[in-house]
Amino acid sequence: MRTLIKHALAAAAPAESATVMGWIRTRRDSKDFSFLALNDGSCAANLQVVVDSNTSGFDELARFTTGASATVEGPLVASPAAGQKWEIHARRIELIGGSDPAYPLQKKGHTLEFLRTIAHLRPRSNLFGAVFRTRSALAFAVHRFFQERDFVCVHTPIITASDCEGAGEMFRVTSLKGDPDAKPEADFFAKPAYLTVSGQLEAETFACALSNVYTFGPTFRAENSNTARHAAEFWMIEPEMAFCDLQGDMDLGEAFLKAMAAYTLEHCAEDLAFFNRFVDPGTIDRLKFVVERPFLRLPYTEAVEILKSAGRTFEFPVAYGLNLQSEHERFLTEDHCKCPVTVFDYPREIKPFYMRLNDDEKTVRAMDVLVPGIGEVIGGSQREERLEALEASLRYHQLDPKDYWWYLDLRRFGTVPHAGFGLGFERLLMFLTGVSNIRDVIPFARTPGNAEF
Ligand code: 4AD
Ligand code: MG
Repeated sequence: MRTLIKHALAAAAPAESATVMGWIRTRRDSKDFSFLALNDGSCAANLQVVVDSNTSGFDELARFTTGASATVEGPLVASPAAGQKWEIHARRIELIGGSDPAYPLQKKGHTLEFLRTIAHLRPRSNLFGAVFRTRSALAFAVHRFFQERDFVCVHTPIITASDCEGAGEMFRVTSLKGDPDAKPEADFFAKPAYLTVSGQLEAETFACALSNVYTFGPTFRAENSNTARHAAEFWMIEPEMAFCDLQGDMDLGEAFLKAMAAYTLEHCAEDLAFFNRFVDPGTIDRLKFVVERPFLRLPYTEAVEILKSAGRTFEFPVAYGLNLQSEHERFLTEDHCKCPVTVFDYPREIKPFYMRLNDDEKTVRAMDVLVPGIGEVIGGSQREERLEALEASLRYHQLDPKDYWWYLDLRRFGTVPHAGFGLGFERLLMFLTGVSNIRDVIPFARTPGNAEF
């Protein structure tokens, strides 16, 4: 039976026989022995395989080149080499698939840009193995966090007819074959349909029935921002809580980030050590800091005052009523507060229609959580639960209440205060790993001009 290299390396005792399979990272030949470094992706470390002329399959050794796949069988014995407890003395080696000399991952030290052009092979590198194992562990941690707190998972639709954010950054979905005169009624859904930008509106309907819910799935935005923090397709985690206000929402967002940092420290130690050594030397300290220290909370108005008197020249202007740009967010969290910051009560004109209007009638109960290195990682709000106020808000944002009839119905039949947020899963991963470009924490990045693979 095949043993994963992860388990072979963690063995408590030597073994008379172990069979492992993987890809050859390197082969080193000396006078009497050859050494294969075998990796199967189950962990960061390679397993050392010692081959000699008694090994069955030895005559084929020349074909065991970098990138080739192989089966190895033999006793698992204590390794004299530093840094590894066990190695295999191969009784038998067998090539599964040879590797062409053109294999692009021959040498170490490729740039991230180059590795993006071979996104189908980069998971075999140390960095991307670590990134995608961590991504998987965190996906599990997300579900565990909410399930343990009695949140119900809702699979919200990917195809939708409503623009949740009202920003018009949607990808159209159509089965019409480019006929310019075709009417929307002739289309598949008999009306214009799009890829969702957020599952929030649908999550709200379920929160107004099941109390606490969350959705975790892909979302799509056709915003043409070619930055290191924006992707056209990204995964979002969106909890929604009935009978909850903005305070409860901020509490959940902060508890969630702390739990994700703690989970990474506890369950991804080997990969985290790699990130800390090769990607960003502050990674482990940053995660501990997030776990241990309270977040700061700052009303938007105060945040603007801090930025105005920062004595800095920012690229984008700072004034009440303008959006905070990434450089402003990073100044607040990295330089001024030196910790994660939750900014709340934003001017209504820069936030979407669904947010609860404050009694000042100028600000809405919005909150963004900003973290060092990234800026905004969470965006959320208390929702407008009053029917008339919501209709007025739709009109204020030049949206047609008729298009939102089912959403308005929630306010008509047993409305309750409720709140939720959206957290970009890739931004969370960037924060937890120190990887600085969103293209490098998603298996196959979709960005403007780029949908290869
Ligand atoms: O702030 P946003 O736009 O909020 C919403 O979509 C709400 N409907 C969420 C809710 O209340 N249920 O997006 C939420 C988060 C952002 O804070 C950011 O982390 C991430 O989604 N995000 C992106 N991540 C990668 N690429 C993009 N283009 C992103 N746009 C937003
Ligand atoms: Mg936002």
